[in-house]
Amino acid sequence: MNNKVDREVVGNLRCWFNNYVQKFDRKEDYGFQQNIDLKREHTERVVREIIRLGNELKLDEYALNLAEVIALFHDIGRFEQYKRYQTFSDVRSEDHAMLGIRILKEYDVLGSLENDTQKLILCAIEYHNRPFLPDRESKTCLFYSKLIRDADKLDIWKVVLDYYNRSNGEQNASIELELPDTPEISKKVYDSLMSRQIVYTKHVRNLNDFKLLQAGWIYDINFEPTFRSVRKRGYLESLRKNLPDTEQIREIFKIMDMYIEEREGNRSVD
Ligand SMILES: [Fe+2]
Repeated sequence: MNNKVDREVVGNLRCWFNNYVQKFDRKEDYGFQQNIDLKREHTERVVREIIRLGNELKLDEYALNLAEVIALFHDIGRFEQYKRYQTFSDVRSEDHAMLGIRILKEYDVLGSLENDTQKLILCAIEYHNRPFLPDRESKTCLFYSKLIRDADKLDIWKVVLDYYNRSNGEQNASIELELPDTPEISKKVYDSLMSRQIVYTKHVRNLNDFKLLQAGWIYDINFEPTFRSVRKRGYLESLRKNLPDTEQIREIFKIMDMYIEEREGNRSVD
């Protein structure tokens, strides 16, 4: 049994991941393949994001390896989810985090690791897509859960913005979660953001709500390096450009700008 996740373990797990995901390839079906590739590439980038964040947070090499494994498997359920249901909407299918955990257990993918390490990986995967983290969990589990949540968000922002800003006009209903592109925004979405709260998926009714849910992730960032990346990459400004210029949207972004200023102010006091 391995007490620590070393490079050999990471290499073996990467190998398993590649073989597993390859089985979902359907080169003859463009739409299907596009969505499998989307999640495969997302995973690769989340791995890079988590290592970058981990380095900025000065994690040691074993902690970085553990974070890498969590990122590698955080969306392992997405492939089976898409194959079974042809959607990435958990509401319309099932929770992809729990599905991923079942798959990892079924294939005993983490079997070479000691029990506590396995539990830690599964715990971070389980919590990566929850609206809120539970209170009653170990500090370590919460730390890695926060890390994967930040790394995941950084890349989802990139994926959706690449899509919203696309020039070919091609539509991918899976990225939009099959939502209608109607002009209004929902009251519950507006209320949540005006009180600096994240938006719940269950309140999302259309594409505008969905974009606002993504903007609202700014209220769910755990680490300063993540926050800095969001600002540097201009994610919020870019989302705003893809939303209608209405009074409500202006109010929402004003509150967000104030929040960002406050966090920056706090940092300079530190
Ligand atoms: Fe996910």
